[in-house]
Amino acid sequence: MPEPHWMTETRTAYDTVAVDYDRLIPEVVEGPMDRGMLAAFAEQVGRAGPAAEVGCGTGRITAHLRDLGLDIFGIDLSPGMVEVARRRHPGLRFEVGSMTDLGLPDGGLAGLVAWYSIIHLPPETLPEVFAEFHRVLAPRGRLLLAFKAGGCLDRLAEAYGHTVSYDVHWHSSDRVVDEVTAAGFTIHARLDREAEGFDRGPQGFVLATRPGGGTRA
Ligand SMILES: C[S@@+](CC[C@H](N)C(=O)[O-])C[C@H]1O[C@@H](n2cnc3c(N)ncnc32)[C@H](O)[C@@H]1O
Repeated sequence: MPEPHWMTETRTAYDTVAVDYDRLIPEVVEGPMDRGMLAAFAEQVGRAGPAAEVGCGTGRITAHLRDLGLDIFGIDLSPGMVEVARRRHPGLRFEVGSMTDLGLPDGGLAGLVAWYSIIHLPPETLPEVFAEFHRVLAPRGRLLLAFKAGGCLDRLAEAYGHTVSYDVHWHSSDRVVDEVTAAGFTIHARLDREAEGFDRGPQGFVLATRPGGGTRA
């Protein structure tokens, strides 16, 4: 099947902006609530097994989670972003791939984080992507999502100083929670917060578990 147009546009855009994305957002700029979600995810996954950041971009969040103790690698659609990530964080593994078809074995991950990467998914593709996240996570594996919340669409013509053309979807938090639940996850926490810093609107965060395999807090 040919690649959907939105995916080609997203890859092209991030290949174009990769070096300047890294220059403008070199490390973790997230505030305390967002870092709290990352810290909770890191503590829950611990050393239970490998974790992946899907849509890792330049690897700044992958490196942060590594520093919090995770055995983590990154996957991204954009070869340009992956090239920057490999240069910036030579001790970490980064691969080119899409969250629509991760090419990972069933049940091999203890944690999966998608930090502002589902914002490029058309809403109708959320079920298939969350099914893919469920497939690659082990029972009791943890899922963390961060996204721009709202339920509208931005068509970008300029980003990080470049002319581009791609979509940013502000997903409805309720819809994300519903789709994550429908894919078979148990929701542990959701955070809907107002804009702060450079945010242009509210932000959503969801922490969930793939059930099964006995109990764990
Ligand atoms: C806003 S950036 C976030 C990058 C990183 N998580 C961070 O917080 O700096 C979105 C990233 O998602 C990636 N992405 C978009 N669609 C993707 C897909 N279908 N599969 C994998 N990565 C994707 C883009 O290439 C881009 O690097």
